[in-house]
Amino acid sequence: MLISFEGIDGSGKSTQIALLEEYLIEKGLNVCVYREPGGVQISEKIRDLLLNSKVDIHPVSEMLLFSAARAQLVAEKVIPDLKAGKVVILDRFYDSTTAYQGYGRGNLSLNYIHDINKIASLNCEPDITIYLKLTWEESKLRTAHKQEDRMEKAGEEFFNRVIQGFDYLANKHSRFAVIDADSSVNKIHQEIIKNVEVLL
Ligand code: ADP
Ligand code: TYD
Repeated sequence: MLISFEGIDGSGKSTQIALLEEYLIEKGLNVCVYREPGGVQISEKIRDLLLNSKVDIHPVSEMLLFSAARAQLVAEKVIPDLKAGKVVILDRFYDSTTAYQGYGRGNLSLNYIHDINKIASLNCEPDITIYLKLTWEESKLRTAHKQEDRMEKAGEEFFNRVIQGFDYLANKHSRFAVIDADSSVNKIHQEIIKNVEVLL
């Protein structure tokens, strides 16, 4: 089973993934968690480039680098793990490319992004996508103590377009579970469990 988590920066993905992982392990399942971009050596190197705020990256290069990182992770880890019957949890997947590079940057064709997402994910599709929905204002409050990376520097208008992108995807695909992320950690966890349990 493939579970992806989506949402803007600071929406609580890492917090909720750790809780879900623990819950699934307690149920006796074999669970693997990977972050995007990253998860394997090549993809972590690409991540360093993509998040380095001193590096200037063209929007097309940005989209292709996120996709390159993804293809490597899927080939090296996701597909073998799924074949071995493991539960794979992804901290972001190709919906982030649609939301950030498609809607956020706003200057790339969504049709091209759709095709590249298919190529880069080697046709893997999540069984469920947990979308933690939060406003930019709330996420800023939560991450005020953190230094901004290259993506986070993009600002309010960018992030509001990213949210529009996630909302569009959530309306379009039944695999999305939209969860109000402006709630307590435990309430959100219970909501996620409810959505995942029906698939186990
Ligand atoms: P993400 O992985 O989406 O960037 P994190 O899980 O790292 O988000 O959470 C960002 C910050 O918000 C962290 O400081 C975390 O402790 C805090 N946080 C996470 N969930 C909640 C919540 N439901 N309510 C308030 N703060 C939260
Ligand atoms: P990360 O620190 O992992 O995000 P978060 O704060 O949500 O835990 O940083 C990854 C950044 O890369 C984040 O700003 C989202 C962005 N991103 C894209 O723009 N496109 C993509 O395809 C992916 C996977 C991530």
